Amino acid sequence: MPETWWRSAVTYQIYPRSFADTNADGIGDLPGITSKMDYLAWLGVDAIWLTPCYRSRWLDGGYDITDHRDIDPALGTLRDFDRMLAAAHERGIRVLIDIVPNHTSDRHEWFQRALAAEPGSPARDRYIFRDGKGPAGENPPSNWESRFGGRAWHRVADGQWYLHLFTPEQPDLNWENPEVRAEFLDILRFWGRRGVDGFRIDVAAALIKDLREPLRDVVGGEGSSGLDDFAANPDHPFLDRPEVHDVYREWNRVFHEFDPPLIGVAEAWVRGDRRVRYIRPGELQQAFNFEFLRVRWNAAEYRRIVAESIAGARSVGTVATWVLANHDVVRQVSALGLPDDVDLRVWLATNGTEPSTDLELGTRRARAAILFALALPGSAYLYQGEELGLPEVADLPAGVLQDPKWVRSQHKEKGRDGCRVPLPWTRTGVAFGFSSAAPWLPQPADWGEYAVEVQRDDPDSMLELYRTALRVRREFGGDETFRWDDQYNIGDVLAFRRADSILVLVNTGATAIPLPDGEVLLSSVPLETSTLPANTTAWLRPR
Ligand code: GLC
Ligand code: CA
Repeated sequence: MPETWWRSAVTYQIYPRSFADTNADGIGDLPGITSKMDYLAWLGVDAIWLTPCYRSRWLDGGYDITDHRDIDPALGTLRDFDRMLAAAHERGIRVLIDIVPNHTSDRHEWFQRALAAEPGSPARDRYIFRDGKGPAGENPPSNWESRFGGRAWHRVADGQWYLHLFTPEQPDLNWENPEVRAEFLDILRFWGRRGVDGFRIDVAAALIKDLREPLRDVVGGEGSSGLDDFAANPDHPFLDRPEVHDVYREWNRVFHEFDPPLIGVAEAWVRGDRRVRYIRPGELQQAFNFEFLRVRWNAAEYRRIVAESIAGARSVGTVATWVLANHDVVRQVSALGLPDDVDLRVWLATNGTEPSTDLELGTRRARAAILFALALPGSAYLYQGEELGLPEVADLPAGVLQDPKWVRSQHKEKGRDGCRVPLPWTRTGVAFGFSSAAPWLPQPADWGEYAVEVQRDDPDSMLELYRTALRVRREFGGDETFRWDDQYNIGDVLAFRRADSILVLVNTGATAIPLPDGEVLLSSVPLETSTLPANTTAWLRPR
């Protein structure tokens, strides 16, 4: 298989509303991204992925789309998109956009028509409408639950129910309907012709539902919605159904209408052995490794997952895709500063007070973790703000929370706003350089300490570590060889060789280990003696 750009690419995830605001409405926008393209080039990323910028009701951070062929006015226009794309391409940066095939907004024209139409009509068949159970159809058609809490069925005025695996304002599309399939092929082409390089596919594993009657209930142990638990059931009613692969084989053919072919990266919260099915030849190119993201500083777990992921990817002739953070999870420096048995949702519900996170330890581990992830063979995704070492803003007041999880969980889960707080660019200023107005989510008072402007001048900063790592990685990132180094790969220490000459050591333990003789290419903290301290990663060229 020929080497292709994405195989070793480092892609930076942009959450547009929180990146940079240019028109003083407190909301980041596309011209904001364009204005920071030099920053991204300076940082050294190969590609960017933008979470949704489409027209939306913004009830789920833009994942509730009303028009897939237009930019939301809050973020700009199609012209702004074209300018952003050109600015990226001029700098050799590829651009991926989110695509959300599982559901639309309830304000989408199709859903409005479905509501206005009769039960059983073609307009309703684009979504998943069913009669309820019980004498008057008063009970939902199945026990399926929404990922954000509550049931996954909503009843409409004429008594039918429709399926929504997320909020009721995000009705699920019916992927058995040929019009739905054709529509998305057309949307892929629309953006492909505009020049995008590929797509991040939202909820990629849940498109196909087993709609044979009677609908099967989800049984205990499969998790509420089954979307978040790596469900191991190979015959789950709506997660990771084998038929979903037909969709991606069809998409792959559209990708190949372009030169170079477009790519697709799957957001699929499935187990590793199932994940590789998404990246088989003729399907998608990448699938996020969420098992890796979930590990909280445990060498044995890392060892197992890294080995399985590399072997799994190789078995289908490709490489793995490493990810440590995104817009749906607690930020690294906070998560890694907590004991690994703390449930992060429970922790968030205490506003991040119980227990309190050790940010110094978390930051140290996050530095080691990123050098670990960037040293692995394959591609990697970085989430905006991680390069600044931003902590989770766990104490956002209830009144500002926007994540639908908060309301749908009856205020039990604070949700994901704490990792979506706008970036600080400058030490001071109304919104630390993000905007000249109050930002859509409030930034903590000490946010300026993390600003790009501050860290840029500091060789010990997180930002400089990222930048250096991306530069040094270019020397070996394209090489796909990997082998454990049995001499050092023991207990709390992970050790592997890359490109034959490079030795990567990750010390997750609490004590220092002797460092082999050699040239230190990079280390997550300065090495003063010939030892590798606790919670440290080093890239070496042994003598
Ligand atoms: C994905 C997105 C998440 C969104 C959900 C529904 O998990 O990453 O942010 O809420 O899909 O579209
Ligand atoms: Ca704006």
